[in-house]
Amino acid sequence: MKSKASAPGKVILFGEHFVVYGVKAILCAINKRITVTAEEISEKKISIKSNIGELELEPNKPISEINSPLKPFYYLADKIIQDKDSGIKIEVESEIPLGVGLGSSSACCVAGAAAISKLFENISKDEILKLAIEAEKTIFQNTSGADCTVCTFGGLMEYDKKNGFSKIESEPNFHLVIANSNVEHSTESVVEGVRKFKENNEKEFSKLCEDESYLIENVLELLKEDNVKDLGQKAIQNQEYLERIGISNDKLRDMIKIGQKTSFGAKITGAGGGGCIFALTDESNLQNTIKEFNEKNYECFSVKIDFKGLDTF
Ligand code: PMV
Repeated sequence: MKSKASAPGKVILFGEHFVVYGVKAILCAINKRITVTAEEISEKKISIKSNIGELELEPNKPISEINSPLKPFYYLADKIIQDKDSGIKIEVESEIPLGVGLGSSSACCVAGAAAISKLFENISKDEILKLAIEAEKTIFQNTSGADCTVCTFGGLMEYDKKNGFSKIESEPNFHLVIANSNVEHSTESVVEGVRKFKENNEKEFSKLCEDESYLIENVLELLKEDNVKDLGQKAIQNQEYLERIGISNDKLRDMIKIGQKTSFGAKITGAGGGGCIFALTDESNLQNTIKEFNEKNYECFSVKIDFKGLDTF
C-alpha cells in the first residue's frame, strides 16, 4: 500500500523580524511543492530517500541521536508505526530550494505527516498540522508553527504572536519573481543581530515597529483590492525598514535594485543576511523582470499564490 501527499512552500510577504516583537506578518503559500510518497513495507525499518540524501534506520531510535536533516520524517514514521509490525519507505521530491526561507522544511513536515498517516487512517488537516509542527520541532525547537499552517491550508495568512493565525480571504493575482542569493543564512543568528540592534536603539526600533504595523494594515486593504502597484510601493517601504535593522547586505541590495527596475517593488523575504528576495509583478512586467535577473546571472523563478495547500492522492 502506497500513499502520496504534496504541500506548497511559502514566502513571508511582509512583517518578518518585526513579527518577533508582536507586529503582524503576512505569509502566503507558493506554487512550488514538495511531494512525499510513503509505503508500508514488511521489513521493520524506516528508510527515507530524497535529493538531499538518504537515511535508513530501525524504528524506536531516540530522536536526539539522529543527526540528519531528514530527522522529521523519521520522527513521523516512527511515531505512526509504533504499534505495527511493519516498516515504512519514504520518497521525497522537491521543487523548493532548501534553506533559503521558502518553507521547504515545513512543506516536508506537512506532506510527510499527511502521506505517512494516510497509510493507516484518514485524519483531518488540523490533525496533520499538529503532527507536522511536532516533526518540525525536531529541527527548529522554537518554530511558531506559522509556516506549517500556511503550507497546510494554502493561500494568504496573517499571523501575530498574540492572536495566532488567521486566513486572509483575498485572492490577489500577482506574480512574485523570487531571486536566490545562494547565500545560506542562519535565521537564529540574524534574529540575534536584530535583538542587539533593538537593545542599542530602543526608541528607533519601537518607531519602526509602529511604522511596520501601519504598513501591514495598508497592505491588508491593498490585497483585498488586488492593487499590485501600490503593494509594490509597500514592498519598497518595508525594505527600507529592513535595511535599518541591519539584515541586508551588498548582494541583497544589488538584487533588490535589479528587481526594482521593472517590477512594482522588491524586498527581502524571510530572515535576510542571505536567502531570497522577491519582486512583485503582474503579466505586464513579469518576463522583463526575469530577464533583468538572468542578465545579471542571478538565479530566479516566478511563483503565484497557491490556494490549495496540502493535497493528498
Ligand atoms: O527565513 P525564514 O523564512 O525562516 O523567516 C524567518 C522569519 C523571522 O521573522 C526573521 C523570524 C521568525 O521567527 O519569525
